[in-house]
Amino acid sequence: MTLPRLSTFFAPCPRGLEAVLCNELTQLQALQPGPLKGGVRFRGPFDLCYRVNLHSRIASRVLWALSEGSYQNEHDIYEAALNLPWPSWFSVRNRIKVHVSAHHSPLPSLEFVTLRIKDAICDHFRKTIGKRPDVDTQAPDMSIYAYLDEKTFTFYLDTTGEPLFKRGYRKVQGSSPLRENLAAGILNLAGWTPGQVLLDPMCGSGTFLLEAAQMAANIAPGINRSFAFEKILHFDEKTWTALRKENQVAQQPIPSDTLFGFDYHPEAVKSAKTNVNAAGFGDCISIQQADILEIQPPAPEGWLITNPPYGVRSGQDMNLDEWYPLLGDALKRHFPGWRTFFFTADFGLPKRIRLSAARRTPLYNGALECRLFEYPIVHGSHRSHPTPATISP
Ligand SMILES: C[S@@+](CC[C@H](N)C(=O)[O-])C[C@H]1O[C@@H](n2cnc3c(N)ncnc32)[C@H](O)[C@@H]1O
Repeated sequence: MTLPRLSTFFAPCPRGLEAVLCNELTQLQALQPGPLKGGVRFRGPFDLCYRVNLHSRIASRVLWALSEGSYQNEHDIYEAALNLPWPSWFSVRNRIKVHVSAHHSPLPSLEFVTLRIKDAICDHFRKTIGKRPDVDTQAPDMSIYAYLDEKTFTFYLDTTGEPLFKRGYRKVQGSSPLRENLAAGILNLAGWTPGQVLLDPMCGSGTFLLEAAQMAANIAPGINRSFAFEKILHFDEKTWTALRKENQVAQQPIPSDTLFGFDYHPEAVKSAKTNVNAAGFGDCISIQQADILEIQPPAPEGWLITNPPYGVRSGQDMNLDEWYPLLGDALKRHFPGWRTFFFTADFGLPKRIRLSAARRTPLYNGALECRLFEYPIVHGSHRSHPTPATISP
């Protein structure tokens, strides 16, 4: 089939990262990127989705928009799906799954809509080639997404498959690991760039450091995986192979002594080391066991970015109201010259830590509302009594 010169795509991402995803997509040559709630719409030639799937650190997947229109009931949606040329996009041998999400749709059952779209796709195949594809809700080859708002629907074909945040480098999960694309987005929001010193003093399984190392080494996050677009009928293998080769050539060594992780818990240290070694970064990321209150900075200035646990394990029997002021004090004592960032769902942290936040960025970890708090630690801010951290010398 002949493709239009430009296609439209939608890349979902963790909420709060839409603006940084927009910037990333612009760098990846996306046209007219426009942030929406929970993702970014953009345009480009079809093979732009190869580049975005290969390189995006922030998107969760890339959906190719097939058609949109208005509806009043389930039948309108069935008819619209029935009339799309599905066999020109994927083979009847591919197993399919339909996902429907909606915002303010008047339809009473999204399950029924899902069923009707699946029926329409199967009916279209049966009518045109005499056979229908099977459904597989566990491991489909092709996922069809439909998004409904109050009056309009959009159909998408997923070009990604397994979500993009499943990088495959994490061998051990640890407790409450961050999603890789959320960690990459936070590094981006914080303004950390490769070559600058990054310290995660509560590193758990090491997600921030592993994402930072991939960025520094210029390793495309999708370089070692397969994608759903490889099964789309007009897949252009030559272009895809060239893109992968381009990245393999562009990979580079990581600047030494820039990436540091600590954790209080021996199991977390073990899991971070396992992950770092398995990802091939054993020589460039240092992981050690320490309590955050005791850590000395590895450089005169840098980025401290971390995701503390809800209930802080400090090694002593202390509640959060006692512990956080000690942390605020330790930061002022040990980290003047550093920019520090705490990603947390604990909105009581700012009050307890007794530092004044320069920035509070709302973000979502799945459905959980969180904040990224920034505390720049200025030289001379340490006093014997807790004071805001932003006092100049
Ligand atoms: C929410 S987890 C971090 C998860 C991490 N971002 C990841 O993606 O895997 C918080 C970590 O803080 C560590 N921790 C708790 N108290 C600590 C302390 N006083 N000093 C250093 N690490 C601590 C825990 O052992 C845990 O691994």
